[in-house]
Amino acid sequence: MYPLRKPRAPRQAQSLERIFQPVRQELEEVDSRLKALAAGAPPAYREMLGYVLDSRGKRLRPAIALLASKFYPLTTDRPITMAMAVELLHLASLIHDDTVDNSSLRRGLATASSLWGRDVAVLLGDYVFSLSATFVCDTGNMYVIRRLSETIRDLSQGELLELLAAFRWDQTYEQYQERIYYKTASLFRTAAEAGAVLSEAPEATVHALADYGYHLGMAFQLVDDILDFQATEEEVGKPVGNDLLQGTLTLPALLLVQSYPNDNPVIRLCRGEEREANRKRAVEVILNSTILRDSYAVAEQFCEKARAALQGLPPVPAHQSLLDLVGHVTARRR
Ligand code: IPE
Ligand code: IPE
Ligand code: MG
Ligand code: MG
Repeated sequence: MYPLRKPRAPRQAQSLERIFQPVRQELEEVDSRLKALAAGAPPAYREMLGYVLDSRGKRLRPAIALLASKFYPLTTDRPITMAMAVELLHLASLIHDDTVDNSSLRRGLATASSLWGRDVAVLLGDYVFSLSATFVCDTGNMYVIRRLSETIRDLSQGELLELLAAFRWDQTYEQYQERIYYKTASLFRTAAEAGAVLSEAPEATVHALADYGYHLGMAFQLVDDILDFQATEEEVGKPVGNDLLQGTLTLPALLLVQSYPNDNPVIRLCRGEEREANRKRAVEVILNSTILRDSYAVAEQFCEKARAALQGLPPVPAHQSLLDLVGHVTARRR
């Protein structure tokens, strides 16, 4: 029995390395199998694939899938296969996202689209999507195959909804929330759910872990949106301040619109008036107000629900890790 600790105060969150300890070996296996993929790729893709697979992200989604598989004893390595599918789906969506966002930096490295052009990046992203599909089939589980397919649809829908909502200052919080579910939380949810399904956990546990993944994913994207105002490029390894520039109104921008509905720099930027000056002004107003604190409070509500979802699950070490991961999400700077 492992007595579960109380949630830590956000600023004392633990390192991911420590949090991932119960699945360290499996994660290393995921890493080495991912790296080996480039060698088996057709020559046209080999070098580019090697480049994107070498860029190491935080590995949150594969870790969540693996941790979620640890509540019941298991002898197969299907969760490892699933973790690979999940990370590859994430990587493919990042390649496409950076192409859509015209972004030059990812994981501290130049993006595929900036190195080889947008056309090549779209095709490379497709190749990585297909790798993800192959691995999920290797799990042999029709339910998780279906869920991953649905998640590809959700990610695509989330990105499209974001594009369609660009520069629309009249959008609602509910629309924002729906969008971040599709583009981010859907995959967190599927990662956790699939890990549980593949460990043959009881249905109630599968539901609880899916619910955990959903709420953690929502908090994660909210914090990502906050960090776009608050963090530095060195910290996050990708450009900051980009959201407003692209017309992506995230919670902080929506709160600013709500506070000053008649006249504010976000509305002026959306109307196309002096975009750069109004962007700077909007960031300044947001940083000098309670808006980021209020946004963190919304993220914290999702965190609370993520923690609550875990209540009653077996007290294995992975349980503590999933709890600690919640604290990490709001404290993170990358
Ligand atoms: C980036 O996700 C995309 C978002 C959902 C904000 P991560 O921040 O998990 O990216 P990596 O995998 O660590 O690079
Ligand atoms: C999240 O969107 C990307 C995906 C879910 C693929 P963002 O555009 O907000 O992510 P970053 O900021 O580029 O990582
Ligand atoms: Mg982006
Ligand atoms: Mg984007």
